[in-house]
Amino acid sequence: MAIQVEKDGRLFNLQTADSTYQMYADEYGVLLHTYYGKKIDGENLEELIFRADVGFSGNPPESVADRTYSLDCLPQELPSDGVGDYRESCISLLHDDGSMAADFRFEGYELIPCSYKVEGMPSLYDNEEERGETLIITMKESASQVVVRLFYSVFEKENVITRAIRVENQGESEVVLMKCLSCCLDYQFGEYDLITFVGRHTVERSPERNRVRRTKLEIGSMRGTSSHQYNPSMIVCTPDATEDFGDCYGLCLVYSSNFTACAQKDQRGQTRVLMGINPNKFSFRLRKGEFFDAPQVILSYSDAGLTKLSHQYHKILRGHMCRGKYQHAKRPVLLNNWEATYFDFNKEKLISLGEQAAELGIEMLVLDDGWFGKRDDDNSGLGDWFANEKKLGSSLEELGNRIHDLGMKFGLWFEPEMISEDSDLYRAHPDWALRIPGREPNRARNQLVLDMSRDDVREYLFERISDILGHAPIDYVKWDVNRSLSDIYSHKYAGNQNGEVYHRFILGVYDLLERLLEKFPDILLEGCSGGGGRFDAAMLYYSPQIWCSDNTDAVNRLDIQYGTSFFYPISSVGAHVSAVPNHQTGRTTPFRTRGHVALSGSFGYELDLNKISEDEKEMVKEQIAEFHRYYSLTHEGTYYRLTPPGERFCAWEFVDEEKNHALQTLVMTSAEGNPLPVHTIVKGLSPDKYYCCSVNGQVHSGRTWMGAGLTLRMVPKEYESVLIEWNVVEER
Ligand code: DGJ
Repeated sequence: MAIQVEKDGRLFNLQTADSTYQMYADEYGVLLHTYYGKKIDGENLEELIFRADVGFSGNPPESVADRTYSLDCLPQELPSDGVGDYRESCISLLHDDGSMAADFRFEGYELIPCSYKVEGMPSLYDNEEERGETLIITMKESASQVVVRLFYSVFEKENVITRAIRVENQGESEVVLMKCLSCCLDYQFGEYDLITFVGRHTVERSPERNRVRRTKLEIGSMRGTSSHQYNPSMIVCTPDATEDFGDCYGLCLVYSSNFTACAQKDQRGQTRVLMGINPNKFSFRLRKGEFFDAPQVILSYSDAGLTKLSHQYHKILRGHMCRGKYQHAKRPVLLNNWEATYFDFNKEKLISLGEQAAELGIEMLVLDDGWFGKRDDDNSGLGDWFANEKKLGSSLEELGNRIHDLGMKFGLWFEPEMISEDSDLYRAHPDWALRIPGREPNRARNQLVLDMSRDDVREYLFERISDILGHAPIDYVKWDVNRSLSDIYSHKYAGNQNGEVYHRFILGVYDLLERLLEKFPDILLEGCSGGGGRFDAAMLYYSPQIWCSDNTDAVNRLDIQYGTSFFYPISSVGAHVSAVPNHQTGRTTPFRTRGHVALSGSFGYELDLNKISEDEKEMVKEQIAEFHRYYSLTHEGTYYRLTPPGERFCAWEFVDEEKNHALQTLVMTSAEGNPLPVHTIVKGLSPDKYYCCSVNGQVHSGRTWMGAGLTLRMVPKEYESVLIEWNVVEER
């Protein structure tokens, strides 16, 4: 059993293959967090908690006689609010009488032999290989009828524990939930670093590492999406942690809207880490019998550094979050017309792109922005999801059939959550847009945002998108979001429920996605938000691949894909070969290198194939052959980061499950005169097997390769790249 319960149902040990998470409900019903780390036996570790009379840390009513007992000092699972724990809390309540206290005590527990599902939101699911086990702990508020259920699912083999929270109002009077974070981790001892993934549009997910001290470290989003700026994932690790060494704790929020995540030491040097929905502009009314579900946090612990932690996240997200046909089915190599034509296309242009693509072995043509309504630039048309047959010169059905006749699949771009003021939809339903009455809204890309919390809005979108997907032969949908939310006001939740709109918005998005996928289960969905502005675990539930960044520059992509790899599987990373000079950076890189970088992702092209040279066309064919040759490695293999950003070369590696085949990609990021040799390390081989290396034909044992590495005979020139294979051989 992965979940062990002892001490009259008050001691809980959650055991995974390599980790233990322990909680204990003490004599006052406070749920103590006593341990999370390397696997141990399940003895009660309450004695590790140091108690002292701490000045200005008061005592709860039950322990007035014992001044060493203070909520302000104890490591807890569900820290209270307003009653003596002065650190950050998980939950804040506004009661009917205007008071704002929340103090939860243990009531009981329940075990379920499968994982839990969070209502209306994505969460990890059980598969044939592993079924989670769930512990539900009930906590009751000490002076009201608010009940909290803490959900923990253990995926033992995967070294993963998930957490989620349900808050339920069982009382007569209304309660307003002012804050509801999903997870608190208290560390009594030790020094920690916090690694967050920060950036901006076209520069997403750079790791930033800071020491946790008393000054709070906090990231979050108020953009209504998870955002380019901060990813809803972070790593707490010992300061000595490297790729291969040290204690690392991952926290990954399964949510695509406003979030907060923070770490801070308290006055006594204990570390508190929290994650959940951003409490800013959040409030949720709970009438009698109503409940609120907060999103899931996926926790994972590695006793052997960051690489192992990433492997655990890649595996759990690939196997228990991604769904549908394309979770395992081979993804088609695509050509997207965006950087090839932008808004300037018609049927002839698209078919000529398709013909060229088919000849070179590309398997799908994706028609991006501009095929609907009045849309020749980004100022109008959003919401009018009717094909512009005049611009196209044909119906979508005819166009799709022509592409299918070429032996290719056909994909289409949508941006369902948005509306242009210059659109028929806006003229008919101005109240469907989020905007505050009497206030001019902030516009971004000259567009407004639809109120996705409204059933009628979602119904319209469902009907329109279904109609298009039902009539034209469409195999793939790119689902884009090109602005952050602002001016939040819903006519439906007018008055005192506008604090619910950000959350209800994302629930509406999930609902629409779910309904569409139910109706069109074979469609491959690619998530997108101006590139990687909504690259999060929740979106992987709907789209097994997400356009990683609008930045297609191969050298910039090295860093973006590096940062993305800490949590997200490589198979989820949309990566394309584009034209040079690159449209975002102006940099020119070799065609081969652009291919090698994009091969480490869900692969495609995004350029005008009619404008590339004959040599480059030959390279496209080679790259597609490489895509097929390495597909199982890049999509299901084990991934190793070999170099941090900023080195003179960047290298990474994939190894297959049997450890018979490894592939390393190395890109020279800067050149020098009289160059020093390029010596690269090798990881993940089996020490006792023998491998032949493709670049020098040498055969060594895995032990030797991993110990001694490889020196390249020739130093690649700036921006050149090499693919290096290690294939197992019978003997030396
Ligand atoms: C932003 C996306 O990231 C691009 O790939 C493209 O689809 C544009 N939007 C279209 O407006």
